[in-house]
Amino acid sequence: MEKVAIVTGSSSGIGYETSLALAREGFYTFATVRNSKKAEKILQIAKKENLNIEIIELDVDDEKSISVAIEKIISKKQRIDVLVNNAGWGLFGSVEDVSMKDFRAQFETNFFGIISIIQKVAPVMRKQGSGVIVNVSSVAGRIGFPGSPAYISSKFALEGLSESLRYELGQFGVKTIIIEPGVIKTNFFSSMKIAEPKPDSPYKEITEKVIMGIKMMAELGTHPSEVATTILNAIKEENPRPRYIVGNDAQMFLEAKKTKTDAEFENYLKKELFSS
Ligand SMILES: NC(=O)c1ccc[n+]([C@@H]2O[C@H](COP(=O)([O-])OP(=O)(O)OC[C@H]3O[C@@H](n4cnc5c(N)ncnc54)[C@H](OP(=O)(O)O)[C@@H]3O)[C@@H](O)[C@H]2O)c1
Repeated sequence: MEKVAIVTGSSSGIGYETSLALAREGFYTFATVRNSKKAEKILQIAKKENLNIEIIELDVDDEKSISVAIEKIISKKQRIDVLVNNAGWGLFGSVEDVSMKDFRAQFETNFFGIISIIQKVAPVMRKQGSGVIVNVSSVAGRIGFPGSPAYISSKFALEGLSESLRYELGQFGVKTIIIEPGVIKTNFFSSMKIAEPKPDSPYKEITEKVIMGIKMMAELGTHPSEVATTILNAIKEENPRPRYIVGNDAQMFLEAKKTKTDAEFENYLKKELFSS
């Protein structure tokens, strides 16, 4: 039977590589993008390699767009085997400097949009008695640091949602997996939004330091195809783990988090990230 996959945010980076990886594995892949003009490259490759990739417009921030896209997919294929919630972006700036409007916009894409998609896809998977939901979180979904609290808390929220889903959907044969990449070399760093600090902001320096550090790490970042390979391997497992970490940086930080007390970890992170 033909297996069907949906990947959000397939225009670049992790979503682009994951759509290709799933299609190469034989999935009929709905590579969703918010603007189909950005799908030319993936379509060229699909044509060249004779892959089953279909582009569907889906803006995670737009409830109507989600409904139309998912309904189109269900009426065409009547099944969904894999959903990869990948679309996302990063908002930088301290809690006091980020406006409520921007904070909410960050959660709209990175959290609420995902809930809306899952609400439409989960009933299909439940009826099938099978399916895998892959939520692309981040190492920042498990480790808080200054300079990016909106992004970090949106990913922490996604982790909690995913843990709940494992129980709720697990009883119906539907699996939920969290992916935790470290720094990955994608457009994330050119697309990220930086809040304008207030004129008297005391957080300007620390935020700039964090952004500079992350951008420097991005130069040496892991290739997004490694995330795609991890996703592919995870969805093939009979009993997938809750979490899959990608990248040596993420491994290092999350191992330290696991083995240290909270106080030890805070000191460790301060030294690692802000000692210079
Ligand atoms: N890069 C990293 O270091 C890193 C690390 C950990 C986790 N992640 C996570 O990985 C995921 C993918 O990011 P990436 O690194 O591959 O960055 P990317 O190359 O910038 O890709 C982000 C994708 O999300 C899409 N997107 C953003 N807002 C959207 C919306 N409202 N509706 C639909 N699509 C939307 C973008 O579409 P457009 O082209 O239209 O903007 C793009 O396709 C994100 O969830 C990110 O938080 C990234």
